[in-house]
Amino acid sequence: MTKRMIATHFDPHATASLYLGDCEDFLRQIPKGTAQLVITSPPYNIGKKYESRLSLEDYLARQKRTIELATRCLAESGSLCWQVGNHVAGSEIYPLDILLYPICKDLGLKLRNRIVWHFEHGLHCSQRFSGRYETILWFTKSNDYKFNLDEVRVPQKYPGKRAFKGPKKGQYTCHPLGKNPSDVWIIPNVKHNHVEKTIHPCQFPIELVERLVLSLTDKGDLVVDPYLGVGSAICAALLHERRGAGSEIVPEYVEIARTRVIAAMEKRLAKRPLNRPVYKPDPRSGVARPPDQSEPEYLYLPLQPVI
Ligand SMILES: C[S@@+](CC[C@H](N)C(=O)[O-])C[C@H]1O[C@@H](n2cnc3c(N)ncnc32)[C@H](O)[C@@H]1O
Repeated sequence: MTKRMIATHFDPHATASLYLGDCEDFLRQIPKGTAQLVITSPPYNIGKKYESRLSLEDYLARQKRTIELATRCLAESGSLCWQVGNHVAGSEIYPLDILLYPICKDLGLKLRNRIVWHFEHGLHCSQRFSGRYETILWFTKSNDYKFNLDEVRVPQKYPGKRAFKGPKKGQYTCHPLGKNPSDVWIIPNVKHNHVEKTIHPCQFPIELVERLVLSLTDKGDLVVDPYLGVGSAICAALLHERRGAGSEIVPEYVEIARTRVIAAMEKRLAKRPLNRPVYKPDPRSGVARPPDQSEPEYLYLPLQPVI
């Protein structure tokens, strides 16, 4: 029976284990084959305040060690989800998923999806197109893996569609539980006005992890995040009755993770709801109009229903 407690080292009986220290030390504490999901976003080696910039070669060698240790923790039916963007050096970008794929493949992992996470806000580039997606490499340890698609189906565009010919003519054609959410996920990133924003410069939106927790694990399973940050992945796990374990080298982040994890356990964590459509500004609002545009009268007409 799981105790509802937070441990400071890995404890298989704890609801959450939050370790202040290096992820390699932490992953070695986790018994082989016990995690159902490892989900993380590692440092991208771009000089954020929580990372010391390494040569790309050294960075990849370190990532390889971490991924190897994470794979060791995974159950045979388990999944590893590595969420990454670009490493940037000079004016060139190095997509980390391309660089990490051969490392994971050499470890025997099997790629199931390269999920594109699209968001609308970020740096405005002047010498290349502004980056508005990152990816999640979803690998499984074996071919016999857990995948609960029904847990994450989304509404169809045309749920009332019927077959127009053949033996099923006239019958509804859509899956009654909704459609597969596909491998392109449109989820707002955590910027300043996001309900989940903390002092961390690059948090996961919790709903990004929730979809993976719900589809790749069952209640009671262990979810591990070696680069914990402020604990978003562990919160997603706890909100859905899984156990969580993670490590982080910045004490302040661990403290915030602890506060958020307690709020998640008590089901009072402030978060964006799963599957809420992306906000569209009211075209009549001041911020939706170009600065020099006067306020024409029609903008004050009541909005007509979109047909
Ligand atoms: C991209 S952030 C992860 C943010 C996290 N997904 C969240 O939602 O808060 C990467 C984190 O890894 C931490 N980190 C860097 N090197 C680490 C190491 N060797 N062991 C554990 N954590 C590390 C950083 O301090 C940073 O908070």
